[in-house]
Amino acid sequence: MNGLFDAKLKADCTLIEEYLENLSRTAKAAPLAKTVSDAMDYSLLGGGKRIRAVLVLEFCRLCGGEDAQALPFCAAIEMIHAYSLIHDDLPCMDDDDMRRGKPSCHKQFGEWQALLAGDALLNRAFETVLQQDIPTERAVRALRCLSDASGMNGMIGGQVIDLESEGQSIEYDRLRTLHRLKTGALIRAAALMGVIAADGREEDIAAATEYSENLGLAFQIVDDILDVTATEEELGKPIGSDEKSGKTTYITLFGIEKAKELAQESTETAMNALKQYGSKAEFLVSLAQVLSQRRK
Ligand code: IPE
Ligand code: IPE
Ligand code: MG
Ligand code: MG
Ligand code: MG
Repeated sequence: MNGLFDAKLKADCTLIEEYLENLSRTAKAAPLAKTVSDAMDYSLLGGGKRIRAVLVLEFCRLCGGEDAQALPFCAAIEMIHAYSLIHDDLPCMDDDDMRRGKPSCHKQFGEWQALLAGDALLNRAFETVLQQDIPTERAVRALRCLSDASGMNGMIGGQVIDLESEGQSIEYDRLRTLHRLKTGALIRAAALMGVIAADGREEDIAAATEYSENLGLAFQIVDDILDVTATEEELGKPIGSDEKSGKTTYITLFGIEKAKELAQESTETAMNALKQYGSKAEFLVSLAQVLSQRRK
């Protein structure tokens, strides 16, 4: 991809990571429960593509908002995401020992520590927004969006279907629902929180919804593909995890080539959803394309 895109993505990630580090330093000022707070930092600050936070930031900018309006929401969504990954790797869930090129949280700190670090990150996401000076209506709208996307009608609901379905072959419709919930919901919430941060219009909400639902589907299809085609070094997490757990994925239902086509189709629908913004949406349009071709 072009250098301009890469530089902008890097600048976004730096802004987000400095904000997260600053929040962790502030939380550390009260050094209670050090083991668990170290485990939280390990998973929150230890890498990752920051896609969800980048979506918040860029949708806020697209709708004319300031970065400062977006950053608390960027942090909150990355906290929920980090918690979901900590729990996802636990022995009772996917039982994976590597994440982002390092031992998973429970491998590094132990199981109960990882469990509680996840729980505490979930709480900190909401605390982070509530502790900032954000107009009440905007904060409530954003938190409603985040809690819907994280709970039983969102990420957790998807994880339930994912685990219940292990070892069974499930139908396409159910797999779509599973992907829409376990991964799509937080990606959608990220885009919508960006619009909310900027007090965007109804048309912006509609465009962000269309873009992010399609991006989210493509994102999880690519995650399924990489589980089969990438190497552990590239991915930073174990490959073959889905097969090991007997998951139904886009690969088991369609094979790699067709799965790639479906991911590309969804990516193009996402890109087209932002046409009305013209060159203002150039970065988000490129982001969809880059993510569809990612190797990690
Ligand atoms: C991994 O998400 C889990 C899925 C929902 C597929 P990411 O691929 O965004 O993970 P990081 O944050 O970059 O490590
Ligand atoms: C991710 O699905 C779902 C989450 C909500 C964390 P996966 O189980 O496929 O994610 P990875 O491949 O372990 O990152
Ligand atoms: Mg999983
Ligand atoms: Mg997993
Ligand atoms: Mg996966």
